[in-house]
Amino acid sequence: MTKDIVHTAIDVGTSKVSTLIAHRHANGDVDVLGVGIAPSEGLRKGVVVNIQEAQEAIRTSVAEAKRSAGVNPSSAYVGVSGSHIEVFPRWGSLRSLMYNAPLSPSEIDRAVDAAFPAELPPENQVLHLIPRLYAVDGLKGVRNPVGMHAQRLDVETLCIVGQTAPIQNLVTAVENTKINVRALVASPVSTGEASLSRDEKEMGVTLVDIGGGATTVSVYQQGCLWNAAVLPLGGYQFTTDLAVALNTPYDTAEELKMRHGQASLDTIDDENVEIQAFGDRRTVRVERRVISRYLHDRAEELFRLVGLKVKGFGFPAMPPAGIVLTGGGANLPGIERVARRILGTPVRTADPVGVDGLPEGMLDPAYVASAGVLLWGTRHLASLDSVRKEERRLNKTSGYAQNTTGPLSWLRERVRKVAL
Ligand SMILES: Nc1ncnc2c1ncn2[C@@H]1O[C@H](COP(=O)(O)OP(=O)(O)OP(=O)(O)O)[C@@H](O)[C@H]1O
Ligand SMILES: [Mg+2]
Repeated sequence: MTKDIVHTAIDVGTSKVSTLIAHRHANGDVDVLGVGIAPSEGLRKGVVVNIQEAQEAIRTSVAEAKRSAGVNPSSAYVGVSGSHIEVFPRWGSLRSLMYNAPLSPSEIDRAVDAAFPAELPPENQVLHLIPRLYAVDGLKGVRNPVGMHAQRLDVETLCIVGQTAPIQNLVTAVENTKINVRALVASPVSTGEASLSRDEKEMGVTLVDIGGGATTVSVYQQGCLWNAAVLPLGGYQFTTDLAVALNTPYDTAEELKMRHGQASLDTIDDENVEIQAFGDRRTVRVERRVISRYLHDRAEELFRLVGLKVKGFGFPAMPPAGIVLTGGGANLPGIERVARRILGTPVRTADPVGVDGLPEGMLDPAYVASAGVLLWGTRHLASLDSVRKEERRLNKTSGYAQNTTGPLSWLRERVRKVAL
């Protein structure tokens, strides 16, 4: 097995760091060779707040994946999350000099180039610039204009930016473990890659990834990512609600949530649970109904926020293919029912799809983002020699951060779209 067909993805979440090492077959199938999961340290709300702690968790996760795969990767695709991620549309256009010649991929590249937000302040940087739709001589809704005759080409792109400081902290934490960051993959992109069907993406669907410290809300429509936002709220807040309300340590509240919690009140019984509490009383009895009431209220609040976000994206009603839930928080029993009631739309929970050989324990919504980072890398960067060449060229001319998070990521998206 040669080195360039082994792909590594690292998802540094608030709760866990997961590393996947995989082999991409010539037919595009992706087979996992090894995995490593380590509890996260040094992250809050999806971003690194302590580089030292974060890098130790990354090191542990990568070492375990290396051991189980028997491969020693030197670079990886890395997932980026956090509420510093912003998404907005950008337009670019190009006037073709030769009306009779069909549009070439390089002309399409130039139209997308024109959408690059050059005026972005240095505290922000581009993670992705994803072409959505083209207009050819004013004819709107064209998905792939290669080969069409036109004088003017307009492109509508979705620009995903993040704050430079948290991105740099993440890159430093990963690179301190001697792994080069090959590309950064933002959570709205990664979660959709490993969970949604083509039909859902076409019809319009809202993907809600409920992580430990952040919830990514992404709307897909007409086959591509349409808009997204990251809310600074996740499973951590569900647990903190219990800890504060029941005067119990965070870890006890987390265990309580995992073992006895449910978000829906419809099917709850009258059972009592004994818990360890702060103060001189060592244990207290709590009704399961009480525990679930707090989780239910938090879940309602979360889905109301999701509804407001989707409205804010410009959708008067929820997209017709409904809601797809991912992230560890989607495992809370009854959460689908709450989402259905608050948002009035079909709901399903997704395990990772599109990757073979995941261990059974990872066939869980919590690993959709990790699988998505891997799939994005293998699908969009795998055989793009031109990108590698560009990477080498950029490596010679500028600093690392710019290469991995600025023009290069954007270039990769551009090449991907043209390659479709
Ligand atoms: N069975 C369950 N019931 C309730 N909550 C659960 C369950 N399983 C996992 N969770 C919650 O899921 C959260 C972790 O989700 P996930 O692993 O997707 O987070 P992460 O990717 O590490 O974090 P983030 O994406 O926010 O940076 C934790 O808050 C955990 O309590
Ligand atoms: Mg996550």
